[in-house]
Amino acid sequence: MRRGLGIAVLTAIALAVTACGSSGSSGSKTTGGSGSGGGGGSSSASVSGAKTLQASALDNPPKGTITYCTGKDTTGDAAYTVAQFNAKYGAQGYHANLVQFPASADQQRAQFIQRQQAKSSSCDVFSSDVIWTAEFSSQHWLYDLTPYVSANASKFIAAPLDTVHYGGKYWGIPQTSDAAFIYYKTGEAVPSTWQQVYSAAKNSGGIVYQGAPYEGLTCNFLELAFAAGGQVLSADGKKSAINSPQNLAALQLMVSGIKGGSAPQAVTTYMEPESDQAFDTGKYGYLRNWTYAYAVHNTTGALKGKIHAAPLPTFAGAGKASILGGHNSVISVYSQDPGLALKFADFFASPAMQKAAILKFSLAAIIPSVYKDPDVLKAVPYAPQLLQALDQAKARPVSPVYPQISQAIYTNVNNALAGRESPQAALKAADSQINSALSTF
Ligand code: GLC
Repeated sequence: MRRGLGIAVLTAIALAVTACGSSGSSGSKTTGGSGSGGGGGSSSASVSGAKTLQASALDNPPKGTITYCTGKDTTGDAAYTVAQFNAKYGAQGYHANLVQFPASADQQRAQFIQRQQAKSSSCDVFSSDVIWTAEFSSQHWLYDLTPYVSANASKFIAAPLDTVHYGGKYWGIPQTSDAAFIYYKTGEAVPSTWQQVYSAAKNSGGIVYQGAPYEGLTCNFLELAFAAGGQVLSADGKKSAINSPQNLAALQLMVSGIKGGSAPQAVTTYMEPESDQAFDTGKYGYLRNWTYAYAVHNTTGALKGKIHAAPLPTFAGAGKASILGGHNSVISVYSQDPGLALKFADFFASPAMQKAAILKFSLAAIIPSVYKDPDVLKAVPYAPQLLQALDQAKARPVSPVYPQISQAIYTNVNNALAGRESPQAALKAADSQINSALSTF
């Protein structure tokens, strides 16, 4: 399904971008944002002709119910926020419904695209991964929220705010940010390099991570590749830079990790939930996962009270890197009550909801004050390192064809991990597929 949609989307994007390029409209921006150096992908872009929602739309919207669509609510944060919204505004006639899509980022994207292509009003607010802003705004599927976001910009942490900015406009309200950590059980060594992670893992049951062919694997690979000094695109964003000695060193470490028994072969089929389940068996010493995993493992499950979080380590002889993850509340242009949708998105970003997100669900808040809150520091001891990781995290390439670029990475990296391709052949294939994707717009 994904591949079929991909071709249609690519064609539509090529048309949309050509149309935008020739319109000569204002508001272009060099994308990539802070910390994007490792990803390359800087390019000028503009999106014209979008519908704009005024900030005042949230004041007295028509009464009714909006639907909030999001990926699988693994933590319970989505249900909690919806319940709090209904408790606060229900008596005034304002309600929100929750619809959950699958856990896979790629499948969430496909579900949203299907609805938008059908001009369906079934998702008023969508929890959009930080990597989709360029594509969805270029397709004219999102309201331009510049009036609201500009007025509130100083409230947000810079890195997540940058992920809603494309073509000189703001296309969503930051909802949660994200960065990965290495989780380990009490008693395990705290490794300071990726090489040490793999050798320590070998003596402690192994490391589990997300190695299935989907967006999560792109993140897992780029964390090592960027730390090793690699890039995805050339500095001008026009060519692939994936086939480099630095990226090869990163991929070789991951491949030999599986061959040498530091990671189970099964990681090649794991997304986030499967890696959590594996870690929860207690068999593995280490887990690479996003920040939500701390609350999941430390407050429930077999390892309750025995989990620690360490920032991602350096690549021996090179540097260290995190990948900026997270989600934004975007508003569909097909919503029948965009004012109420904005009210919900605004509520999600409020200090009370952001504090609950980090306190109860160890999600990375998008406003800075909560990271200093004593309750938060007690519940999430690594909150200061989390804030630092967000500041220093690198963005994935910013492009309307990012999903195709990522697919080229994760398909070939997965082939190498599973032993179907050598690391060299995998990077060579990814290189030519990335260049083909770039040539389509
Ligand atoms: C997390 C991140 C998101 C990333 C996804 C990959 O949800 O927040 O940015 O794309 O994982 O699986």
